[in-house]
Amino acid sequence: LRVALLYGGTSGEREISIASAEGAYEALCEGGHLVERIDTADKSQLGRLFNEQFDVAFICLHGRMGEDGSIQGLLEHVGIPYTGSGVLGSALALDKARAKVHYRAAGLRTPRGLTVHQDDRLPVDWIVEAVGLPCVVKPSTEGSALGVFVVTTPDELSASIEQASALDSAVLVEEYIAGVELTVAVLGNRELEALPVIQIVPAHEFYDFESKYAEGGSRHICPAEISEEATAEAQRLAMEAHVALGCRGMSRSDIIMNARGELYLLETNTIPGMTKTSLLPDAARVAGMSFPQLCERLVNLALE
Ligand code: DAL
Ligand code: MG
Repeated sequence: LRVALLYGGTSGEREISIASAEGAYEALCEGGHLVERIDTADKSQLGRLFNEQFDVAFICLHGRMGEDGSIQGLLEHVGIPYTGSGVLGSALALDKARAKVHYRAAGLRTPRGLTVHQDDRLPVDWIVEAVGLPCVVKPSTEGSALGVFVVTTPDELSASIEQASALDSAVLVEEYIAGVELTVAVLGNRELEALPVIQIVPAHEFYDFESKYAEGGSRHICPAEISEEATAEAQRLAMEAHVALGCRGMSRSDIIMNARGELYLLETNTIPGMTKTSLLPDAARVAGMSFPQLCERLVNLALE
């Protein structure tokens, strides 16, 4: 097949996207495809999608203008099938605050949260009252834990909201759930398959940017060392999150399990990282799927 490998882009996760695309390029070539790399940050390269014939677009973009439905909309326009979720599923999943609304509507457990907009000027006491302390501050539409803070005092909360606001006009302030960090990848369109659960042991307080991408920054345990019931529950939650947001092809939902064994959905990533330290390729490997096989599967799901 002639594959357009879309990568790069302009989000804060550009470097991650470049790393994800490196492996995907090799894997797709190995699969016998003719792969053309297109950095979507470069408009002249993007123009190739209008002027050339491609059988499928393999999207390795993370964050805004890539994982948020925008590039998916463009591909719909030009009629090129693409890997992963459509416009709406992508847009909903990338917006953590809106994803939460849909999790709730589907009866899926997620930490209490409150969205703060730049101009709201909500009193900090009020936010503390609503979500409690400690809490987590996140730009609503960033990835890779960029601009994420765990805070324990009202002063830290104000400062973190200010910092997160620099990355996004909407900031999610969420109840902090202490516990085991899990992540579950889901593959499929109509028939879904949950991959083995990964347990993340970050080197830092939580699975922050460095823990995610530095060599030795975190340890993945797969399958997770949790009970069979918790494993089944995490997989069910990830599949239901995939359905609740209208995802397609693949997703990876991040989950926290508290000391009582209750699982909370944090977020769903529609274009999970594909770097050497990333989670989806790890889970696929444990399920018996090599990285090239995973890429081939995603291409086939795009063409279904
Ligand atoms: N947002 C990063 C790429 C991930 O979820 O893996
Ligand atoms: Mg994310």
